Amino acid sequence: MEQGLALHHIGVRFGGLTALDDVSLRVPAGSVVGVIGPNGAGKTTLFNVICGFLVPESGSLTLDGRPLRPRPHQLTRLGIARTLQGTGLFAGLTALENVMTGATHTARAGFLAALLGLPGSDRDERRLRQHALDILDGLGIAGHADAAPGTLPFAVRQRVALARALAARPRLLLLDEPAGGLGAEDIADLAELIRQLPQRAADPCAVLLVEHHMDLVMSVCDEIVVLDFGRVIAAGTPDEVRDDPAVTDAYLGSAVDEATA
Ligand SMILES: Nc1ncnc2c1ncn2[C@@H]1O[C@H](COP(=O)(O)OP(=O)(O)OP(=O)(O)O)[C@@H](O)[C@H]1O
Ligand SMILES: [Mg+2]
Repeated sequence: MEQGLALHHIGVRFGGLTALDDVSLRVPAGSVVGVIGPNGAGKTTLFNVICGFLVPESGSLTLDGRPLRPRPHQLTRLGIARTLQGTGLFAGLTALENVMTGATHTARAGFLAALLGLPGSDRDERRLRQHALDILDGLGIAGHADAAPGTLPFAVRQRVALARALAARPRLLLLDEPAGGLGAEDIADLAELIRQLPQRAADPCAVLLVEHHMDLVMSVCDEIVVLDFGRVIAAGTPDEVRDDPAVTDAYLGSAVDEATA
C-alpha cells in the first residue's frame, strides 16, 4: 500500500468551463510535490478539492491507500493539515498556545477545557505543551513560545503557523502560497524549512505546495505537477519540468496574453 496522497482522474466543471480535466497525481509520504501553472490553470480548484471545499464530479482520492472523502470540518481527523494564505493565528493566544490548538484532537480533555476554565487533565495539558514546545524547537523558534503572534515578525509567525499544522500529526500537509508576503531572504529560509517538513512530522508525511513563486517551487520540490487549462501538461523533477517545452509554452502563452490584454 502506497503511503501518501493520490488523486485519480479528478474532474471539476463550473457550468461550461472545465476547471480540472482528468487530473491524476501522487504525493508520496516523505516528499514535497509542487503544483504550478499559469493564472486560471486550476491550482486553487485542485487545492479546494483536497480540502473538501469542492466535491469533484468525477474521479477519486486516496490517502495512505484508503479512500479519502475530504470535508472541511473533518480535515484534522482525516490526517490533513494546511496553512492558509496569511497565517490565521489566534491573536489572544501565545505562539505556544496557538501550536497547542493544532493538537487538541489528540488530547482527551486538557487544553480546550483549560482555555474554557473547565476542569481538565493536567497530564494531558503538560503532554500537549511539551509536544508543542518540541515542534517550535524543531523549527528554531522555541524562544518565541510565550510571545503574542502580533508582536512577531511575519516570517516567525509563519513558522508558528507551520508548527500548529505539524502539531496535528498530519499525514498530508497542504501549503497554500507560503511565500506570499515574504522578502527574498525569508524565502530562502522558508525553502530550507519546507525541504525538511516531510521528516518533521511524527511519521514522514506528504507535503503538497501550491505556489506562484517559481524559484521556491524549483528549489524545494521533489516533483512538480504543471497544470494548464485544468490539465496536467507536465510532471517530473524540477529539472525535467524546467526543460519541458510544453511548460515554457504555457507560461509564455499566458505572459503574451497578459501583455496584450
Ligand atoms: N467558483 C467558480 N465559479 C466559476 N468558475 C470558477 C470558479 N472558481 C474558479 N473558476 C474558473 O476555473 C478556472 C480555474 O481557476 P483556479 O482559480 O483554480 O485557477 P488558479 O490556477 O488558481 O489561478 P490563479 O493563478 O489566478 O490563482 C478559471 O478559469 C476560473 O475562472
Ligand atoms: Mg489560485
